[in-house]
Amino acid sequence: MEPKQTYIRDIAQHEGQTVTLKGWLYNQRSSGKLRFLQVRDGTGTIQCVIFRKDVDPDHWEAAGALTQECSLMITGEVRADKRSAIGFEVGVQSLTPVGPSEDYPITKKEHGVHFLMQRRHLWVRSSRQQAILRIRHTVVRAIRDFLDDNGFLLYDAPMFTPNAVEGTSTLFATDYFGRQAYLTQSGQLYQESGAMAFGKVYCFGPTFRAEKSKTRRHLTEFWMVEPEVAYADLDDVMDLEEAFTLAIVQRVLDNNRADLEVLERDISKLEAIKGPFPRISYSEAVERINALGVKKEWGGDLGAEEETVLSEQYDTPIFVHRYPLEVKAFYMKTDPDDARLSLSVDMLAPEGYGEVIGGGQREDDLDTLLAKIHAHELPPEVFEWYLDLRRYGSVPHGGFGLGLERTVTWMCGLHHLRETIPFPRLMDHLEP
Ligand code: 4AD
Ligand code: MG
Repeated sequence: MEPKQTYIRDIAQHEGQTVTLKGWLYNQRSSGKLRFLQVRDGTGTIQCVIFRKDVDPDHWEAAGALTQECSLMITGEVRADKRSAIGFEVGVQSLTPVGPSEDYPITKKEHGVHFLMQRRHLWVRSSRQQAILRIRHTVVRAIRDFLDDNGFLLYDAPMFTPNAVEGTSTLFATDYFGRQAYLTQSGQLYQESGAMAFGKVYCFGPTFRAEKSKTRRHLTEFWMVEPEVAYADLDDVMDLEEAFTLAIVQRVLDNNRADLEVLERDISKLEAIKGPFPRISYSEAVERINALGVKKEWGGDLGAEEETVLSEQYDTPIFVHRYPLEVKAFYMKTDPDDARLSLSVDMLAPEGYGEVIGGGQREDDLDTLLAKIHAHELPPEVFEWYLDLRRYGSVPHGGFGLGLERTVTWMCGLHHLRETIPFPRLMDHLEP
């Protein structure tokens, strides 16, 4: 019978015991009488030490021939070791090769991003990629726990849809038994039906946008969590976004310090994030951007540079609310105090990470909504079901969408969001 596997994550519970590790060789070096194998098993990496005098000569030679990323099992004694990052090492008693690994393509030297992206299926074995993907996992759990603990019902949205949500320029069209369907850009419209049925709902899944630009903030397939709340106004939406964001940041700080250190993240920047987040109107934001030396006319969306100069003034995320109606999607409610404006809000992350949340209060009046559908030149027939939500017991309501990859990029302090999802989809990247 094969010996029971011990995971490196649990190694501290086994000090002084003989254990069996099952994993892969990350790296090795030798110094005369000793070989040091860095072994990883997905839960951590540990140094395994072989003394020449402790093993027979065949074993000693065989260990020296082991190559990067070959798979192996090691049995040995767990010893405390002050120099080790995890506080322990393993004194090897026996070593069993499992699978070879000839000419592993990702070596210790620097590789270009394109080279690594094409080998994403192997790149995910690196300690940096593992730290990022573990933080993604934490963010996903924090999202689900926060919403589940606050009375939200999971209400999944379909991926095939007959209609656009966020404009017609980024739709992926597909044949649906002779009809045209699109991959969903957002589950929001479906969440609105859920809010009228259950009060507070959310969906969390992949969304698709045919982004024809190559930027560090856009994927063509990304994950979005979209809460929607009946009887909520714009201020309620901002309150929810703030509590939600604080919960996510706190969970990453609680769970992933070691990962943040691998990434050399400046953790003090995350620790500085406290509520309340400043709430700035679009019109005020335009004034401030101009005062900061970047010329910006009133009207038109905020560009990446404009968002950056503004958000750099703060240590916490900021809300920019009440954008001009024409820069936002058709479903935004008109500001009753100023017909040029929408009851929309974007949350901009600090450190130049830009928009991570978009949301607002929805148009709840049937005739106004219909007029907006026409004004945006959208086909009204595919929105008939959506209009029903205004025909039968319409109420003020609102919600938002948080982009998972942008949030993880910010948590990790990365330059580009491509590393925050196992298999990123970009305009020029479909494989692997
Ligand atoms: O601002 P957006 O387009 O809002 C909506 O889709 C609303 N329907 C959401 C809602 O109110 N339920 O997208 C929301 C967020 C953005 O703030 C951003 O974080 C992310 O989704 N996002 C992207 N992330 C990666 N790649 C892209 N191409 C993204 N487009 C949007
Ligand atoms: Mg947006």
